[in-house]
Amino acid sequence: MNPNKLLWEKGDFTIIAKTMRQSGTELVSTFGIQPGMKVLDLGCGDGTTAIPAALLGAHVQGVDIATNLVAAGNARIKAEQVPYCSITEGDATDLRDLGSESFDLAVSIFGAMFAPRPFDVAKELVRVVKPGGRIIMGNWIPGDPTLVAQILRISSAYTPPPPADFVSPMLWGVEEKVTERFTAAGIDAKNIRFTKTPFTFRAACSPAEFVHQFRSFYGPTMNAFEAAEKNGKADELQHELEALFESQNKSGDNSQTVVTATFLLVEATK
Ligand SMILES: C[S@@+](CC[C@H](N)C(=O)[O-])C[C@H]1O[C@@H](n2cnc3c(N)ncnc32)[C@H](O)[C@@H]1O
Repeated sequence: MNPNKLLWEKGDFTIIAKTMRQSGTELVSTFGIQPGMKVLDLGCGDGTTAIPAALLGAHVQGVDIATNLVAAGNARIKAEQVPYCSITEGDATDLRDLGSESFDLAVSIFGAMFAPRPFDVAKELVRVVKPGGRIIMGNWIPGDPTLVAQILRISSAYTPPPPADFVSPMLWGVEEKVTERFTAAGIDAKNIRFTKTPFTFRAACSPAEFVHQFRSFYGPTMNAFEAAEKNGKADELQHELEALFESQNKSGDNSQTVVTATFLLVEATK
């Protein structure tokens, strides 16, 4: 079984995705989407960005590796009667079902960064976009002091070291690496722009309960807790994450968690 697929089918990412809806919608509103535009949302999860893009009039094809998230996204599309939006299962490293030069815009917000073989991902994103079309990625930044990079940093201290050939997803948050990958896929470096951008998680629960949601439903954090439990360190990990979430909560109310994390917005034009 593909470990990349197993990781994202683990737990239930939709629980975390619910806390990302408002920022996802606000982010999509900055993409210059016009009615009728053909948009690919790669690693779309349950549609946090695919659905608002379709509501702006785009014809959206979502692709995700996790069967459960594809089903959850399509259920949302049906329930909300979203026009011109569907999600299919696929792997960002090999978009064999998508024709070359099919999309005006390919979006991947915290999605394709998690696929292995980043040069293949860049090649596929560039292949499926029309000449003059755009690619927009949202990637977490290694070493950044805000929430997501810190969750991953703290968790990695409790998990066994990855295999020697493992390429960290966080390298998609390093400008030089992104440039190297997209130029190898044929994009001119002067056509790639980078902007550090805020993204806010909003959970209707305390920071401790929000940590509990990550522990129970978010594959990477579930794995970190499983490894920590084996070493009798699960409580330590829980306390470190609670301290992180509490220190970053700006809601001013312990029954709500509002945390803004910074990511690297990448915009490449073919
Ligand atoms: C952190 S979630 C983000 C989901 C969504 N973009 C959002 O903003 O809510 C990462 C997503 O990337 C998907 N993913 C991971 N590896 C993938 C791959 N190789 N191909 C396609 N999707 C992938 C996961 O299944 C998951 O839905």
